[in-house]
Amino acid sequence: MDKALQVSAIKDGTVIDHIPADRLFDVINILGLYNSNDMITFGTNLDSKHLGKKGIIKVANRFFQGQEIDKIALIAPHAKLNIIKNYEVIEKRVVEIPDEIISIVKCFNPKCITNNEPVKTRFLVVNQDPIELKCHFCEKITHEKEVVIT
Ligand code: CTP
Ligand code: ZN
Repeated sequence: MDKALQVSAIKDGTVIDHIPADRLFDVINILGLYNSNDMITFGTNLDSKHLGKKGIIKVANRFFQGQEIDKIALIAPHAKLNIIKNYEVIEKRVVEIPDEIISIVKCFNPKCITNNEPVKTRFLVVNQDPIELKCHFCEKITHEKEVVIT
């Protein structure tokens, strides 16, 4: 029996798959997709073998790179990027969390200098799964569930 697609296939672009269902809208936000003129489809609370429930976002004609991929990794460390050209998956990429994160995440500690002075945040990634970020300034740990992207 044919497996029905839960969200329609796209011709060219990127499918971000295996997003935790409760982080779907965070991924849409950090990529600024609400401003986009490209065709975007998404689904959430889809069944997943690994995550229980997952989210998926399909963005036509967009191919993410660099800091955009780092941001996806920080909120959805198990996300997979599928690059689609002419309806075929031509490449699958797992996202990777860099060893050091500069600027893109807010420190969890309200007393941290980065939340009170114009100082860029800086973290060492002390654990990848679940994500734990140690602030260079106050040394407090920001955990995966607390990650807020600036
Ligand atoms: N996809 C799409 N449009 C296409 C081709 C694929 O939207 N033209 C989507 C599929 O719906 C799937 C993802 O891209 O969500 C990856 O496609 P594929 O590798 O064919 O699926 P799976 O083998 O199920 O992927 P996985 O590696 O996640 O097991
Ligand atoms: Zn701090």
